[in-house]
Amino acid sequence: MPYKIDNAAPMARLRAGLAQRGLSTVPSGPTDTTPRPDEPGHPEYHRRIRTEWALARWETATPPRYRRAVADHPAVIAWADQTAQTPEEATALLLTGTTGTGKTHQAYGALRRIAESGPHQYEVIATTAADMYGLLRPNGSPRGPEAELRRLCRVPLLLLDDLGSAKATEWTEEVTYRLINERYNRCLPSIFTSNLPPRVSCDEYGQPTGPDLASVLGERIVSRVAEMTTVVAMTGADRRLTSRQEDQP
Ligand SMILES: Nc1ncnc2c1ncn2[C@@H]1O[C@H](COP(=O)(O)OP(=O)(O)OP(=O)(O)O)[C@@H](O)[C@H]1O
Ligand SMILES: [Mg+2]
Repeated sequence: MPYKIDNAAPMARLRAGLAQRGLSTVPSGPTDTTPRPDEPGHPEYHRRIRTEWALARWETATPPRYRRAVADHPAVIAWADQTAQTPEEATALLLTGTTGTGKTHQAYGALRRIAESGPHQYEVIATTAADMYGLLRPNGSPRGPEAELRRLCRVPLLLLDDLGSAKATEWTEEVTYRLINERYNRCLPSIFTSNLPPRVSCDEYGQPTGPDLASVLGERIVSRVAEMTTVVAMTGADRRLTSRQEDQP
């Protein structure tokens, strides 16, 4: 007759001993292995990692003066949120207004807000129009003008500050047109700032009542900009002057 091991008695003793300590050998049901928000595998965890990465990129692209910039204009917030949610349908943002009204501040604030959303892709170039024209001159960069222009045309996010402030020539008009047209065709989000409005009204003789982007950059560019852009007119006093006055005793 085969020898049979009887486990029942030792198991009963083990169970009784564990029960005395408030423990149990009976499985308590399926274990919950769903990751928590602070664990890999949870969407919130990965969004946070993407946000940290994007904010580091944002900081690298942002001059120290604007590192505390937060978008607080409702139309700028709406544009940034829309761009973050549906980057493939992005439009452009044009911030206009006189000097010191906070255009550059809002622009960097909008870029920060997009970074804070935890985008899957965050690559940004922020430059002024004058610096961009310098870069695109024949000896402006080791990469060469065509490669630089291609980079500006294709970067997922572009801030072009102070559009229309550099001396306009046929060449600046051509370069700006190529840039804006290609970004427009690729549906890539861009932020432009300018001290000039897109168009001003005309007087009784049909003459513009002041300088505007159309007269400085040309009609072709402004017609593209008008079609692809959310225009936000910043108003108010020059913040640089008002903050200096507030600092005085
Ligand atoms: N909403 C804001 N909160 C706090 N500081 C602000 C805000 N907007 C602008 N500033 C500050 O005011 C100053 C002027 O703002 P900013 O440089 O954005 O103006 P701007 O319209 O771009 O001027 P410009 O036409 O000369 O380029 C900066 O020092 C900026 O940091
Ligand atoms: Mg500015």
